[in-house]
Amino acid sequence: TGLITLDSGFMNTGSCQSQITYLDGEQGILRYRGYDIADLAARCQFIEVAYLLLNGELPNAEELLQFRNDMTRYALLHEDMIHFFDHFPPNASPMSILSTMVGTLHDFYPEMDLDEDPYGGITTTTARLLSKIRTIAAFSYKKNMGQPLVYPRADLSYCANFLHMIFDRPNIPYEIDPVMVSALNKLLILHADHEQNCSTSTVRLVGSSGVRLYPSISAGISALWGPLHGGANAAVMRMLEKIEADGRNYDKYLEMAKDPEGSFRLSGFGHRVYKTYDPRAAIIKQACHDVLGSLKIADPLLEVALELEARVSGDDYFRERNLYPNVDFYSGIIYRAIGIPTNMFTVMFALGRLPGWIAHWQEMNLDKDSSRIGRPRQVYTGIVSRPFTELEER
Ligand code: CMC
Repeated sequence: TGLITLDSGFMNTGSCQSQITYLDGEQGILRYRGYDIADLAARCQFIEVAYLLLNGELPNAEELLQFRNDMTRYALLHEDMIHFFDHFPPNASPMSILSTMVGTLHDFYPEMDLDEDPYGGITTTTARLLSKIRTIAAFSYKKNMGQPLVYPRADLSYCANFLHMIFDRPNIPYEIDPVMVSALNKLLILHADHEQNCSTSTVRLVGSSGVRLYPSISAGISALWGPLHGGANAAVMRMLEKIEADGRNYDKYLEMAKDPEGSFRLSGFGHRVYKTYDPRAAIIKQACHDVLGSLKIADPLLEVALELEARVSGDDYFRERNLYPNVDFYSGIIYRAIGIPTNMFTVMFALGRLPGWIAHWQEMNLDKDSSRIGRPRQVYTGIVSRPFTELEER
């Protein structure tokens, strides 16, 4: 074991080679397949970006139409899956529902999870998952709200369809707002991949044992759930609400976050790789102003967020540690403006991240070195050897 290098938290261990996402944490650069995130977020539809991540190229008009048709074709869930929703407890977390139901897809569509062409960009397996996860997420919301399920429509885009499925009600039909569709589209694109983060590494590690796509993604969803990862977007919202309810006593929260004895952290600040402003946070912050302006919403929590960021940027503790807002800091303000409740925020992150997870699972399976079973070593610090003690003598 003397040869094993300890790297807790994998601070400096490359687990694979990848051609999907370029990330420069010193300069704050993020590119998918070479395209800058800002260009993609401003000019693409989410499913174009999903196609790019999976295939390596942006689709042409015909390919995009075909992919859009796939999203429509596969949007329904097997009706037997729908019974599952009735048997979760009323306050079940939408994240546990999502992870369970995605795992279950493996049983409902076994032939798909044993795809004849498993690693080739957009396949029936991947298209099915990309479309169905949206329906599962929407149904988990409806279940949580105690409202009847709303089925997908064939005429709507990916994002519009999601809003339709969560907000439409038999007695109050939902009018789809293009500002909200475009805001959601931007957020999903900005979450679509981020190289070897905790959930993506989980998908690769689980997949490296030879398990198929759907269970690997189900594991990734569980990894995303934690408050240090995707769960941070919901934690930010709860923190902002607390600061507001507390009379905007920013100093109290800053002091708590700086206390070396305490465990409190400012959610939405800091990043393992970015030592500068997270480029996604910069775009989302601007989008907050644009979206709330267009919707004529004055959200006091945006004021709280802006003021908190200003205080953090003027504080030596955070400056010395390069702690800036990350992708999760401002996204919740937009979800809130759209009407999405806090307990769905991390589910939204999962919808966005799905193409990245799939692309990595495929890339891993295609690459002989990366697809070797993931099996880290350890540095053993326990007792090395001792004589056995019989039960009566213990
Ligand atoms: N508030 C207060 N102090 C912090 C924070 C924070 N949010 N983040 C890091 N620090 C401090 C930390 O206490 C440590 O100080 P010291 O050197 O004195 O011990 C130093 O900064 C380095 O932190 P670390 O924990 O060693 O850094 P890490 O790379 O292991 O963790 C992180 C990265 C994102 C988990 C962490 O910054 C954090 O907990 N942030 C809050 C949760 C959050 O926003 N997560 C979302 C991450 S971005 C998108 C995603 O993955 O979902």
